[in-house]
Amino acid sequence: MDNRPIGVFDSGMGGLTTVRELRKQLPGEDIIYFGDTGRVPYGTKSRQTLMKYARQDIRFLLQFDPKAIVVACNSADTVRAAVAPEFDVPILGVVESAARAAAAATVSGKIGLIATETTIRSGVYEPILQALRPDAVLKKQACPLFVPLVENGRTEPGDPVLELVVEEYLSPLRDWNCDTLILGCTHYPLLSQVIGNFMGKTTKLINSGAEAAESLVRYLESEDLLSAPAHRGEYRYYVSDAPDSFAGLAKGFLGRELDGTVEQVEIGQF
Ligand code: DGL
Repeated sequence: MDNRPIGVFDSGMGGLTTVRELRKQLPGEDIIYFGDTGRVPYGTKSRQTLMKYARQDIRFLLQFDPKAIVVACNSADTVRAAVAPEFDVPILGVVESAARAAAAATVSGKIGLIATETTIRSGVYEPILQALRPDAVLKKQACPLFVPLVENGRTEPGDPVLELVVEEYLSPLRDWNCDTLILGCTHYPLLSQVIGNFMGKTTKLINSGAEAAESLVRYLESEDLLSAPAHRGEYRYYVSDAPDSFAGLAKGFLGRELDGTVEQVEIGQF
């Protein structure tokens, strides 16, 4: 048993969709969340910049002696394999968990991936899928307008702007008949209903945050690192921009009122 916290980081608010899943699956765990709200978005950044940011985000979280770190941001997770070996802490990510779930879920082998430009360009999903399901074919689509739409509260079915953008991005994937679609970005679970309606019931949507939470459960169980049964999870949130609007915006991603302190950090010093 181990009552140390779990560290989670993301480019901003979106990683709270992963925190939501972690809280569901691991209610007894303390979580320290860092959202890099001062440097968001990550989904347009180069590999070199993301490596620098990811190292700083991890160094910040290490101060809290976490038993594991979860990279909640798909874009940041594209550099995890390069950065993680530099640190003496287990670092799990959304990409591998989502890829594994997709490989297990697909029947036809036709897997769709929607994500930011950076994640699509990185090619990070292909070798994992190739190893697990050599017969699978991956069709990818960058959806750069989804993040700003979600951040502006445009998530509801029937929203004409959202429906139009969904049609433009997802028509090629629907026409191709993928049976599995990876929601490869923190924000996309908030669009599950609209995306699900558009793709139809035969397409399974993979929520990368939920899959990462499941991977973490398995890891903590196998290493006997779960917190003590009587322990109740506590939450602390850190951001790199002014925290004023964080609590208000967080609700949509977290699915509940923010319950925990929010503090600003100077991430550049790490
Ligand atoms: N968190 C990012 C991701 O999951 C989306 C927002 C951004 O571009 O920073 O890829």
